Amino acid sequence: MSEQAAGTFNRRSSLHGHWSSRLAFVLAATGSAVGLGNIWKFPYIVGEYGGGAFVMVYLGAVFAVGLPIMTSEILLGRRGRRNPIATMRILGAEEGSSRHWQWLGAIGVLAGFLILSFYSVIAGWVLTYIVKSLTGSFEGANLQQVTALFESTADDWVLTTVGHSVFMIMTVVVVALGVQHGLERAVRILMPLLVLCLLLLVGYSYIEGDFVRGWDFMFSPNWQALSSEGILVALGQAFFTLSIGMGTIMAYGAYLPEGAPITSSALIVALSDTAIAILAGLVIFPIIFANGLDPAVGPGLVFEALPLAFGQMPGGMYFGALFFVLVTFAAWTSSIGLIEPAVAWIVETFYRPRTEATILVAVAAWLLGMGTVFSFSIWKDKLFWQGTIFDNLEYLSTNILLPVGGLLITVFAGWILCRNSSSEELGVGTGFLYKGWRLMARFVAPAAVVLVFLHATGLIQL
Ligand code: PFF
Repeated sequence: MSEQAAGTFNRRSSLHGHWSSRLAFVLAATGSAVGLGNIWKFPYIVGEYGGGAFVMVYLGAVFAVGLPIMTSEILLGRRGRRNPIATMRILGAEEGSSRHWQWLGAIGVLAGFLILSFYSVIAGWVLTYIVKSLTGSFEGANLQQVTALFESTADDWVLTTVGHSVFMIMTVVVVALGVQHGLERAVRILMPLLVLCLLLLVGYSYIEGDFVRGWDFMFSPNWQALSSEGILVALGQAFFTLSIGMGTIMAYGAYLPEGAPITSSALIVALSDTAIAILAGLVIFPIIFANGLDPAVGPGLVFEALPLAFGQMPGGMYFGALFFVLVTFAAWTSSIGLIEPAVAWIVETFYRPRTEATILVAVAAWLLGMGTVFSFSIWKDKLFWQGTIFDNLEYLSTNILLPVGGLLITVFAGWILCRNSSSEELGVGTGFLYKGWRLMARFVAPAAVVLVFLHATGLIQL
């Protein structure tokens, strides 16, 4: 859309209608935030980067950096009411700044695409674990057996390709048919059910696991165990888990009704998301310590720890299957947020039909995802710069693109958007809450991201 047209664009309504209520927005944003990042990734990186100290940095990153950036992102989305690239172009022009801000949207399109490529592969593992649970593969399994089960799953690239393909098709179907809202409505039932299952599993870990050791591992910081890479990974995870820094939340914000409170919505999403990650950790660590599993095994951690629990509990076959089904749903509501920026961009820039755009993006992400499939099988020893293809994709998207995207978002909202525009949009007046957000958005969040980058590259020592 040209800037002239942008000028005549009615900012009070989005091109695509509105969420029915603020609750609908919060549920959709929570649906996007809660996913594999909470259940699969959080436990394994806590394990890899040494436990408590990492968790503290992560929590700090979520609330001191992630939350103000999420608020900024929603705010920009609602003000621009377009896809992220157009939103940034329009707002940049409106505020008398450069059109180059639209590159922020490009970062988002790229980050979402890269993440989707490996996200779908991990979700494919989850799908195969539903079947494995139902066919009794976990029954009475010991440490060696669950480890062997995961290794043979990851090694079996044909099977993982099937899982990857099925999940990608599930994503395409929902996005192409435009029934995201239907799926998001399901979140109302499925998210509480997921939390209930997690609570039951925490109960199991409390009784059967080494709960004290698991708790200590997560909450007693051993600062020596924290590396500078760990700090960067904790920051990246804050962005990844909250789905911020790439325009997804901005796109959701575009549909937020006028007058709906932004700050408290962001807070609810961040709190729920964090609670679910912590619960997942409280399930996993007591089990692994009780069974002698190494917390630093990497991406296979939950796929080894959970079957140990399901294999030992009565009715574990069905409970395990239900749990993996719920995780699949959580991943599904996240993957639609990952693909959306690229789809919206193609639709609005090249005027392609939505179905065609969705299929195009999905096929490309599927192909790239094969690199991740092979990273755990035939190419697991093929190392490039940061490790396997999966390691590189994950590192680039999560630890670099999302924080850079988040940095630009917060700089834009804090420095480029004038005070009137941001306070009008935030709708909390110009008092304490507004000042607090502005301080975080202008100084704290950008400084934290820059410092962590400099620290990770070894340019400064903290
Ligand atoms: N937040 C999701 C998770 O934790 O699994 C991942 C994600 C979804 C990131 C959507 C970014 C996004 F736009």
